[in-house]
Amino acid sequence: MNNVVLVGFMGSGKSTVGRVLAKRTNRGFVDLDDDIAADAGRAISEIFADEGEAGFRRREAHSLRRALNKQDIVVAAGGGAPLPDENWRQMREGNCVVSLMAEPAELARRLNGSNGRPLLQPDVPSAIASLLPHRLGRYGAADLVIGTDGREPADVADDIESRLPRGGVHRMTVEVPGAPHEVTIGRHLPSLVAQTVKRMAPSQPVVIVTDWVIMRQHLHPLVDALKSLAITATPVSVPSGEPAKELDALAAIYAELAKIGVDRQGCIIALGGGTVGDVAGFAAATWMRGIRYIQVPTTVLAMVDSSIGGKTAINLPAGKNLVGAVRQPVAIFADLEYLASLPNEEYRAALAEVVVDAARLGIDPGQADVLDRYQRWRRFDTMAMGVATNSLNFLFSNQSTLLRAVRDIGLGLVDRAPPLKNLFIRQAAGLTGEVPRLLKGEAL
Ligand SMILES: NC(=O)c1ccc[n+]([C@@H]2O[C@H](COP(=O)([O-])OP(=O)(O)OC[C@H]3O[C@@H](n4cnc5c(N)ncnc54)[C@H](O)[C@@H]3O)[C@@H](O)[C@H]2O)c1
Repeated sequence: MNNVVLVGFMGSGKSTVGRVLAKRTNRGFVDLDDDIAADAGRAISEIFADEGEAGFRRREAHSLRRALNKQDIVVAAGGGAPLPDENWRQMREGNCVVSLMAEPAELARRLNGSNGRPLLQPDVPSAIASLLPHRLGRYGAADLVIGTDGREPADVADDIESRLPRGGVHRMTVEVPGAPHEVTIGRHLPSLVAQTVKRMAPSQPVVIVTDWVIMRQHLHPLVDALKSLAITATPVSVPSGEPAKELDALAAIYAELAKIGVDRQGCIIALGGGTVGDVAGFAAATWMRGIRYIQVPTTVLAMVDSSIGGKTAINLPAGKNLVGAVRQPVAIFADLEYLASLPNEEYRAALAEVVVDAARLGIDPGQADVLDRYQRWRRFDTMAMGVATNSLNFLFSNQSTLLRAVRDIGLGLVDRAPPLKNLFIRQAAGLTGEVPRLLKGEAL
């Protein structure tokens, strides 16, 4: 976990850059080929001669597994190591995969005269020409793809360090038929978002829909990361909160898309809470009958709920979420750094929704440990904790009443019936008198 796995063709600089990067980031370093040779007590060329490529690949998979079981290391993997699906899966699980790229001519120059690489046959240029095209797809699928032509290893290592997530990367696949995609969870992910956009090769500029609160606090790192990959981004701002989902805000997004000339190959990035995700997703679902979009949720609620599932909606004067569409995002990036600026009440309300979901799934809150985490993560808010604890106790000691009500009547009704919210919160917390305007999660 929290390892950095360097992949790329022979001669791309994995071992040299890997050593520098390991030092810079205070990680251990494993050169996979060295590890395989040490393990076998023979040079790589001898392993190839004795056991063939298949024997070498078995040893490689074994060494890779052993290396990735460690924590906080940089692994320089052999050029063919990422090709088997199982190796690739293990490289990505909890780790960041970085691909080092160089032009074939540069690779040939670097590899000229190198001995002990059995795959460089019959000569370096022919080996590159026959092997590289089959590997480019995998190298290009890395979290970060770094060009190394004409650059010093220290410069490349610096570049990688500045783009790395802080800590491990967790991934979950959303298995939607026809549109499977991944949720990436970690800290400091703008460079990973940018790399995904680059892979999509959208027409430019890409559009970042966000609200003015998030625009002020969190837009720039994402725009800069895109710019460093030669992707221009145009921010389009919507109001903060529910007004983002009104027809006026949607019309303003359409007007911008038209002004910029976004075509069918365009891409929208939804940077914000559930309201931004809903309106940006709906715009993506309907513009040109549907274009690609990426969800970058910035609230707990959007991370655990609204950014996932492809449901998008806007509100009408007649009611909330009355018009909508289902369109899956290409990817979802839950960057936990954004949560540092999230107001406490938003955080708390979303956790209540997590707790209710946990309850609906039959997970004991003690086991889920949600409130405990909350206390450790955020400033302790005694009143809120009292309410939340009472609510939980109530919820779980009255399984047959409130819990069933929540399940049976559906959470949507809570949205549309403020008096019911108040009833719930009063029942749950034992409060008396008027309850102030509540977020849905607070009501729950
Ligand atoms: N599509 C779905 O499946 C789905 C599911 C659940 C909810 N929703 C929708 O989600 C919406 C609620 O989403 P929400 O709770 O994220 O609210 P929100 O988007 O209104 O965000 C809450 C507030 O926090 C601010 N904010 C957002 N991120 C911030 C950050 N990192 N730092 C500081 N401030 C930040 C916003 O500007 C806003 O004022 C509702 O409209 C609901 O209908 C949709």
